[in-house]
Amino acid sequence: MKNIIQANMSTNIQLHFRVATPDDAAQVAQLVQAAFRHQDARWTGPDAELNRRFTMTPVEVLSTITNPDAVFLMATNDKGTLVGAMATIKKIEELARMAMLAVDPAFQAGGVGRRVLAHAEEYAINTWGVKNLGLNALNTRGLLIEWYERRGYVKTGETSPFPVEAFKELELPEDLHFVEMEKNVEGSKGAGSV
Ligand SMILES: CC(C)(COP(=O)(O)OP(=O)(O)OC[C@H]1O[C@@H](n2cnc3c(N)ncnc32)[C@H](O)[C@@H]1OP(=O)(O)O)[C@@H](O)C(=O)NCCC(=O)NCCS
Repeated sequence: MKNIIQANMSTNIQLHFRVATPDDAAQVAQLVQAAFRHQDARWTGPDAELNRRFTMTPVEVLSTITNPDAVFLMATNDKGTLVGAMATIKKIEELARMAMLAVDPAFQAGGVGRRVLAHAEEYAINTWGVKNLGLNALNTRGLLIEWYERRGYVKTGETSPFPVEAFKELELPEDLHFVEMEKNVEGSKGAGSV
């Protein structure tokens, strides 16, 4: 699973996937922070100010990299430039959590995000044999939620609170929360549907 090369029909970008090591923590943190801070009319809703303040530190990334039940997957292009990343964490026997999907703003909207997500799913399925993949997105990001729905995720009906108290100075939507989504991947082992 560590060095997979993929050709992309729509963008012709070849992606090379590997598992991040502790030495990669700083550049992964930089990529995730830059991606989340990027303002994109497609995704950014009333939570724009939150995006601008989004922070990801190397220490936070390192805690995933050193977690034996988690990986941060990196996608680089032919020049070795990091263009995308995503974490996946084995939660329980049957469930992995997908988190921190991020694509370098310069490479967004070219199909990279779709492929990084698909690779992370494949990793979780093939490595841990999980049957379900879970993730969440802010309720304000309707287009992103639809994007996950096109990738096979369905809303579970559950929500998780957003810590609005940590952002008292911002005018955030009163009902800001995370929408929980899941994808059933039973029987997909080895499918390679990236
Ligand atoms: C979300 C993110 C990972 C997507 O990555 P990406 O490489 O831009 O995504 P893709 O190119 O694979 O897909 C872009 C989608 O936007 C759609 N799109 C393109 N332009 C659009 C527009 N103007 N309006 C609406 N949708 C549009 C495309 O049709 C495509 O959807 P499809 O694959 O179902 O056809 C990336 O935007 C990102 O890093 N965002 C910041 C971090 C973030 O929000 N992560 C998710 C946290 S839950």
